[in-house]
Amino acid sequence: MAFETIIVELEDHVSLIKLNRPDALNALNDQLLGELVVALNEAQENEKVRCIVITGSEKAFAAGADIKMMSDKSFVEMFGSDFFGAESDAIMRIRKPIIAAVSGYALGGGCELAMMCDFIICSDTAKFGQPEINLGVMAGLGGSQRLTRFVGKSKAMDMNLTGRFMDAEEAERSGLVSRVVPAKKLLEEAMSAAQKIAEKSMIATMAVKEAVNRSYEMTLREGLLFERRVFHSLFATEDQKEGMAAFAEKREAQFRDR
Ligand code: CAA
Repeated sequence: MAFETIIVELEDHVSLIKLNRPDALNALNDQLLGELVVALNEAQENEKVRCIVITGSEKAFAAGADIKMMSDKSFVEMFGSDFFGAESDAIMRIRKPIIAAVSGYALGGGCELAMMCDFIICSDTAKFGQPEINLGVMAGLGGSQRLTRFVGKSKAMDMNLTGRFMDAEEAERSGLVSRVVPAKKLLEEAMSAAQKIAEKSMIATMAVKEAVNRSYEMTLREGLLFERRVFHSLFATEDQKEGMAAFAEKREAQFRDR
């Protein structure tokens, strides 16, 4: 499919998806989110792809849901269409790992899209925020839920209630992002992390993603049992035999995803 609001490139085993609505700071509209879901599903289906990176421009990862598109909508339209519900569910169903590479603004739906990814690497120019309160509304794609789990209640309340932005240093200190790098190095760092992930066993990689994400859905006791059982089940794979044999033989493992 030809895309108009995103650019998709395959580099080795990594699908790099660039949000591309520069005139609107990559604001998320129906078309962009629709195309993003198609690209993610294609990456999920494509056997060559082993990891996905979502990025924006140097100025903006995404400045939120498209305000101009939403401004005249009624409650009936928003509720009736379950606005952006299908798209966010579809993103959460992707089983391959997704890294968000964030530079500049990641606001509202932009911050929420980054949080839907498996981890966030950001540049030292990144600014995260949930400024929906300034528009007379509130976060609608996870800003009151995921952000609270990531940075705790106090900071999540602060950001959602005041609409203030969090810079890269605070985002790393608060656990929202895993790494901060100079803006010029952002893509290189994200792609190198993705290539590293691409070298692992895909079975083990998908198991890790599933288990870590379960920690947000389950009690600790249930989550620990889930983790242990999945760990046990990986002993049914050839990749476990290969990984452990390679360690003993002091060589690189050759995983075959089986
Ligand atoms: N929706 C639509 N258009 C947007 C946009 C958005 N979220 N954010 C920026 N744009 C557009 C601007 O309207 C402007 O377009 P024009 O040139 O046609 O006027 C263009 O992008 C450039 O933006 P600015 O001139 O405002 O750039 P700036 O550098 O002065 O400011 C900014 C940058 C601080 C990010 C500012 O654009 C801004 O505050 N944007 C809105 C941020 C926001 O409120 N996001 C939350 C949206 S609601 C939401 O996301 C709900 C949800 O949870 C699902």
